[in-house]
Amino acid sequence: MTQTPIIKPVLQMVDISKRFDATQALEGVSLTLYPGEVHALIGENGAGKSTLIKIMTGVHRPDTGEILLDGKPAQVRNSQEAQTLGIAAIYQEPMVYPDLNVAENIFISHADRGPVVRWGKMYEDAREILAKLDVHLDVKMPARGLTLAAQQAVEIAKAISLKVRVLIMDEPTASLSQHEVAQLFKLVRSLCREGVAVLFIGHRLEEVFSIGDRITVLRDGKWISTRTRAEVTRDAVIRDMVGRDVKDFFAKGKGARGELLATVRGLGKTGVFSDVSFDIYRGEVLGFAGLIGSHRTDVALALFGIEPADAGEITFEGKTVKIQSPEDALKLGVAYASEDRRQLGLIMPMSIVSNISLPMLKQYLNPIGLIRSRQEVATAEKFRQRLNIRTPSVHSDVARLSGGNQQKVMLSKWLNAEPKLLILDEPTRGIDVGAKAEVHHMISDLANQGIAVIMISSDLPEVLGMSDRVLVMREGRQMAVLDRADASEESVMAAAMGHAELAQTAEQKAAL
Ligand SMILES: Nc1ncnc2c1ncn2[C@@H]1O[C@H](COP(=O)(O)OP(=O)(O)OP(=O)(O)O)[C@@H](O)[C@H]1O
Ligand SMILES: [Mg+2]
Repeated sequence: MTQTPIIKPVLQMVDISKRFDATQALEGVSLTLYPGEVHALIGENGAGKSTLIKIMTGVHRPDTGEILLDGKPAQVRNSQEAQTLGIAAIYQEPMVYPDLNVAENIFISHADRGPVVRWGKMYEDAREILAKLDVHLDVKMPARGLTLAAQQAVEIAKAISLKVRVLIMDEPTASLSQHEVAQLFKLVRSLCREGVAVLFIGHRLEEVFSIGDRITVLRDGKWISTRTRAEVTRDAVIRDMVGRDVKDFFAKGKGARGELLATVRGLGKTGVFSDVSFDIYRGEVLGFAGLIGSHRTDVALALFGIEPADAGEITFEGKTVKIQSPEDALKLGVAYASEDRRQLGLIMPMSIVSNISLPMLKQYLNPIGLIRSRQEVATAEKFRQRLNIRTPSVHSDVARLSGGNQQKVMLSKWLNAEPKLLILDEPTRGIDVGAKAEVHHMISDLANQGIAVIMISSDLPEVLGMSDRVLVMREGRQMAVLDRADASEESVMAAAMGHAELAQTAEQKAAL
């Protein structure tokens, strides 16, 4: 009789608690990671996921509890110590150095390389690691030119070069296209085969179920459950996360289309995108679909005047207009909620109340110019409740909120601004399931009030569920504008990638 070897945990977090002022971020949380497993960590915005991994990587110290490595208590007081112990983290925005090339980025934190770098050996080693990962990158290419997905691959290669034993990924897929996610998951699996334990944080349940061997749910800073993928259902996981049953998706009803608000003809920006033409009506949600790199955001930046277009014509309310700056856009009533988490347009040291009412300050001024703060507070409270913004108070600084909760504040700010044309770029990325449906509700309400909405989203079910029409882009070109009735997963994907690539993806899916 053969004996199955007993696999010992590599890392154990035991009874960890952490408080920030009025917020108990973690309370008695335990988590065990085994070599070779992908452990998914999920929970609503503010549940404590990032705090837990910041304790693993030495960014925060726990108030109580301990960390065991190979069963023995370990001190993780800073990221250097974490690295020495073989614990590394990759965040949503990779931390590569743009001026260094791929190989230099992979080996940058090798303290033992000494003053003399053996360049030839370094390039050879870098190539070897990338080849093992099946990543095709020129090791001498500067990191500046790499896509986000490629930068993440470089970070994974870096982790391998450091002989990492625990790799933590905090929402690594948020900015990746479907194809790139599939690629990333292949990398993760090859790491696991080498015995690395991967802790994966994400908000998209399809991904959690496709990659996670075990799934741990946190809620309000507490451990709720840890189960294998086989023994858990999607509904059970959502219930654990939210504490009740929710629909993670809301589909917009067919609203009455209002009058024509704006026309865009032949819009272009040299070397970026060209020949984008569409009409948009009041009360309509126009979805922008396409893969990462399709330059949808660049069209939005042109419409909002951040990166003005250099070709084409825009008419707004019947008049030809030039949008050369965000001021021009705002004057017309065009608002843009950015996808970039680092530039959410939030003022970090200011309160939630102030941030939400910022674009609307005029509305809150009474005749002698004082801010009617009671109304401001009431508005902030409304958003706090509807989107479940986790905070001790609406007067708390935005800086203290978790990533997803900051995003909820940013969305609140623009949903509250009630412009004529609202451009939302990836509005629900990084937002938990419970609040996602509520955001969809709010977008739908705005459309019903006659606001025209352009919604850029990589979440195909979201685009299909919310849009009256779908504009599909590919590599800076407009491929199709589909009516709701003609927009399906197949028709949108076919336009976004072309049939050849679609087949390739199916093949890759089968290979996984
Ligand atoms: N430095 C800090 N100061 C004060 N409060 C903090 C700090 N960091 C986190 N918190 C609070 O701790 C709680 C947990 O935050 P954490 O970032 O761990 O959540 P999360 O699960 O990662 O959420 P998300 O899905 O939004 O990223 C939140 O209520 C947050 O506001
Ligand atoms: Mg987080």
